[in-house]
Amino acid sequence: MDVVVVGSCNVDLISYIPKLPQKGETIHGTKFKMGFGGKGANQCVSSAKLGAKAAMVAKVGKDTYGKGFVEEFQRFKVNTDYIVSTDGASTGVAPCLVDQNGSSAIIIVSGANLLLTPQEIEQAEEVIKSSKVMICQLEVTQEATLAALRIAKKHGVKTIFNPAPKLDSLPEEIYSLCDVFCPNETEVSDTAVTTIEEAGAAAIPYLDKGCFTVIVTLGDKGCVYVTKDDRKVCHVACDKVNAIDTTGAGDSFVGSLAYFMSCHASLPLEEMIRRSCQVATVSVQREGTQTSYPYRNELPPELFLH
Ligand code: RIB
Ligand code: NA
Repeated sequence: MDVVVVGSCNVDLISYIPKLPQKGETIHGTKFKMGFGGKGANQCVSSAKLGAKAAMVAKVGKDTYGKGFVEEFQRFKVNTDYIVSTDGASTGVAPCLVDQNGSSAIIIVSGANLLLTPQEIEQAEEVIKSSKVMICQLEVTQEATLAALRIAKKHGVKTIFNPAPKLDSLPEEIYSLCDVFCPNETEVSDTAVTTIEEAGAAAIPYLDKGCFTVIVTLGDKGCVYVTKDDRKVCHVACDKVNAIDTTGAGDSFVGSLAYFMSCHASLPLEEMIRRSCQVATVSVQREGTQTSYPYRNELPPELFLH
């Protein structure tokens, strides 16, 4: 395997609306779409669409959405041997609102995702061990995420940890288990950062906590990254485009980064980040989450040069 993702599956129930409603307000939406989402699944599909051999470790409900998820992964040739289904809860869902500017507000009802146990992660040790890069997020329990990171570390598998959605605090052990720690502008510190300088300053302390590389995604401002080798703050800009739906853009970036780290491992980090930004920039110009992620043949061939 190139990429294994240990994480969430949520069905996104997306309503497109002129602007986000106020408390107590009822408004009319202009369109509704259902799509396969969840940060884990999105990141997995993002890397698979670029050509990574990917596997998903997750839990879904024994329901139509759960069955749909497995079929959807198989359509992208993702290995589903480690997707467990349960009748203990329904498959995760995420009602999303997307306004005219492409900004979104999301409610996550985790359901089956929270029933994925550390024991089930241990049962997936073979697939984790056989992968070049593993990605985790925070839409399954912290215990499950920690179990996955420990297994990856034990076998020298490179790890990308995307601390999303934001939690107040994380166990300190997590940081020393991440090769790449990849928060967005709201997740990197208690108060959201807005400028490149603030993002850099917020990233540095994670190096001392044990992360090897910290990449802060900043939406249309691109990314800021720092590494342990060289604590210099570097900025990678991305093209300015007309965004219509930014839902899952961060996941497009993280999945792409895993693809480049596993399939183009000799590229400089800056170049991997630049190319991943390019992929995510395509995704914000299309509706939906996974449906908006480009296939390899929809992207400029230069992106795939070694
Ligand atoms: O990051 C976007 C994702 O977050 C959506 O697909 C939704 O399911 C939520 O988990
Ligand atoms: Na999109």
